[in-house]
Amino acid sequence: MASFHQLAKALLAAGFLAAPSASAPVEAVEGLASQVAGLSWTLTPTGTRAQFRGLAPVSDQIAWVAGSQGTVLRTTDGGATWQSVGPELSEEDQTLEFRDIQAWSTTEAVILSIGEGTDSRVYTTSDGGESWTQTFANQEPTAFYNCIAFETPEHGFAVSDPVDGHFRLIETNDGGDTWEIVDPSGMVDALPGEFGFAASGTCISTAGGRWYLASGGIDPGRIFRSSDGLNWDVSNSSIAGGPAGGVFSVQFRDAKRGLAVGGDFTVPTGGLNNAAWSTDAGVTWVAAEKFPGGYRSGASWVPGLCHVALAVGPTGSDITLDGGKTWHGFDNGTFDSVECLDASSCWASGAGGRVGRLGFNLL
Ligand SMILES: *[C@@H]1O[C@H](CO)[C@@H](O)[C@H](O)[C@H]1NC(C)=O
Ligand SMILES: *[C@@H]1O[C@H](CO)[C@@H](O)[C@H](O)[C@H]1NC(C)=O
Repeated sequence: MASFHQLAKALLAAGFLAAPSASAPVEAVEGLASQVAGLSWTLTPTGTRAQFRGLAPVSDQIAWVAGSQGTVLRTTDGGATWQSVGPELSEEDQTLEFRDIQAWSTTEAVILSIGEGTDSRVYTTSDGGESWTQTFANQEPTAFYNCIAFETPEHGFAVSDPVDGHFRLIETNDGGDTWEIVDPSGMVDALPGEFGFAASGTCISTAGGRWYLASGGIDPGRIFRSSDGLNWDVSNSSIAGGPAGGVFSVQFRDAKRGLAVGGDFTVPTGGLNNAAWSTDAGVTWVAAEKFPGGYRSGASWVPGLCHVALAVGPTGSDITLDGGKTWHGFDNGTFDSVECLDASSCWASGAGGRVGRLGFNLL
């Protein structure tokens, strides 16, 4: 079997690996191929053991993470130091689980907590976490919110497991200050047992003016798509699903090209039928030819590097250079979430207080 370095070279030769811009020199791209073999995450000192499933990098200096025990941290120096900036919680809310976060700057962020009934909440801050406002508390006993996503600082959705047979969405047009339940009449029927996963904050995502939802609980997991957040279609993902399995993360890099990862979180090393890709805006999904090394909860494209994306899970990280067709493991550390802002600034977060960074040196 070819070494990964040889593989990367072959992909380069075949034109699969594109330069970050039309003007980037060929040497830079070859440099990337040779770096891939030695990729690993550099951990940052968060000083906590909380599990961070919520990850929101803003720049190479600024990032927020949100997680267990009501913990929210922020760095403004690239991860060298972290500050605890979460909301003050009452005694009974100390165990609240934050599972998703969206941030726009050092000051503005929106966080989602999960749980039955009123434990599914949204809080916002506009002063860097000095103060938080609870702007949503679920009142529907059968709802359970999993993820939030924004396409602009104003417009976003949060998604809940099905209520009365349809995935429930709430929508904001003012940056999370107010939320409205979306009319479910344009949402396709959920199947019996179908639900979403609050594992990495990426069970709903947006790109190229479209929205995507990932589901599991059924086999295969499914991926819903919409151009307005109101009217939805759905496709089988090809990713194996079951009571603890399905699609955990769906990510598009533009209006057409997307990938999805998942698996069964009770079988963390299960490396079969856990990733798929699409080049037709999510209408059809094709199983990867070489799967990530285990259940993967999160994925991110690397903006600026065509066809390159990362996936993470409890048993390690993988990279694809061909838009999700073949994946290659590169680090065995546990993570739940990953997000790359550009080639030089990828962040990952997960259990044990782990927040890591990596970048591709393109110069
Ligand atoms: C999706 O998968 C289910 C379960 O295997 C199958 O019954 C159904 O026909 C599939 N739908 C399509 C459109 O292929
Ligand atoms: C990850 O673990 C596997 C199995 O233990 C090992 O073969 C591989 O070399 C490890 N990879 C890295 C990057 O540490």
